[in-house]
Amino acid sequence: MADKTAKLTFGDTELELPMYSPTVGPDVIDISKLYAQGKVFTFDPGFTSTAACDSTITYIDGGKGELLHRGYPIDQLAEKSHYLEVCYLLLYGDLPSAAELEEFESLVTNHTMIHEQMMFLFRGFRRDAHPMAIMNGVVGAMSAFYHDSTDIHDAHQREVASIRMIAKMPTIAAMAYKFTIGQPFVYPRNDLDYASNFLRMCFSVPCEDYQVNPILSRAMDRIFTLHADHEQNASTSTVRLASSSGANPFACIAAGIACLWGPAHGGANQACLEMLQEIGTVDRIPEYIARAKDKNDPFRLMGFGHRVYKNFDPRATVMKKSADEVLDLLGVENNPTLQVAKELEKQALADPYFAEKKLFPNVDFYSGIILNAMGFPTSMFTPIFALSRTVGWISQWKEMIADPKMKIGRPRQLYLGEPMRDYVDIEKR
Ligand code: SDX
Repeated sequence: MADKTAKLTFGDTELELPMYSPTVGPDVIDISKLYAQGKVFTFDPGFTSTAACDSTITYIDGGKGELLHRGYPIDQLAEKSHYLEVCYLLLYGDLPSAAELEEFESLVTNHTMIHEQMMFLFRGFRRDAHPMAIMNGVVGAMSAFYHDSTDIHDAHQREVASIRMIAKMPTIAAMAYKFTIGQPFVYPRNDLDYASNFLRMCFSVPCEDYQVNPILSRAMDRIFTLHADHEQNASTSTVRLASSSGANPFACIAAGIACLWGPAHGGANQACLEMLQEIGTVDRIPEYIARAKDKNDPFRLMGFGHRVYKNFDPRATVMKKSADEVLDLLGVENNPTLQVAKELEKQALADPYFAEKKLFPNVDFYSGIILNAMGFPTSMFTPIFALSRTVGWISQWKEMIADPKMKIGRPRQLYLGEPMRDYVDIEKR
């Protein structure tokens, strides 16, 4: 793949390192032999300048605010496609034919139930457990129920595990929600589409019929699509690193769920809505902007900023438009939280601090407003993100496992601790 080289000179050492050109984006310098040849490490905490793998799935251009899934721009997919078609695209590399899509949707639909014995896992949690804690536990436990799809070296088992994960995550997320509100679990139905099934499993009760609102199911499906994959973000990198040891896919997805939960990552959608509700009215916005700019205050504007997007997050643009549509269609005009969000965005983007640091609303800034208007509690925002991102984690996992170059991930370090020293007996300390 090397089509040019980079010269690295330090001390008496001069090395020529291979460079590779991408389809689009920055060239990379292959440093995999650097330690063997030069006895030095590179240093890049947070991996801001490090490509950990090669991939053909998703491309992000942070400067242009571009997000491509297998080459297709996210705004076109959000507008013209739907989540299960995007799942097919991410998993298999291109848009399906009508027959391929029908077969894939039928496969997913017919695997949405979970093993009946798993019901008892939920009962081990306190009713006030966070749904993410429940999802983390139950998904990890899938490796105790689906032994016939844990052999990562068997392509068929990898395929079965992939379909099971995508199909069962909405059921597990909905059950986690129902458990925390003390309502009975609702089984999935095979005559409903993916998003409608999830809404019904969350919001229907045995005492009455439940009609899915097509506005909500379209909005729900679009939220799933906008969160499906995002290159080598923290939780995807967690799944890849866990998988590199040969761990089974369910355990690796559970690791991804744990990482996503953090407020700097997927937990930001819950934190963002709670921040907007704490601000409450537009007259309090300047106080919070001042806090976000104050170096001595750990407060940050949740839903703002991004490691890669130093221009707008294209998903936030679609989400903002969807928020307007959904709230208007639901007759929730003048939603105070949406008014605060729009005014906060306006004031922040006009403030030199945010402009200089290239901080823009990200995918989490508007998603919580829609989910709140749809009736979800903030504790369900990150589980919905995890449900949506499962196809991204699985697609990246499949790509890595099938890569003959794959080896266990094992970063090194810059050691700043004590040099070797002898043990000191306690009476001499
Ligand atoms: C997601 O990686 C992905 O792709 C993630 C994701 C995905 O789909 O997987 O896109 C999903 O995680 C979106 C991000 C959700 N998180 C938040 O909204 C939390 C708030 N945002 C920040 O914590 C922060 O912006 C990060 C974590 C998102 C990005 O952090 P970076 O790139 O490491 O930036 P940084 O922490 O180095 O900040 C650069 C500067 C700092 O100031 P200085 O030290 O240079 O003076 O910008 C400041 C930060 O203090 N800054 C903010 C800020 N974000 C960064 N200041 C105020 N409010 C903020 N939100």
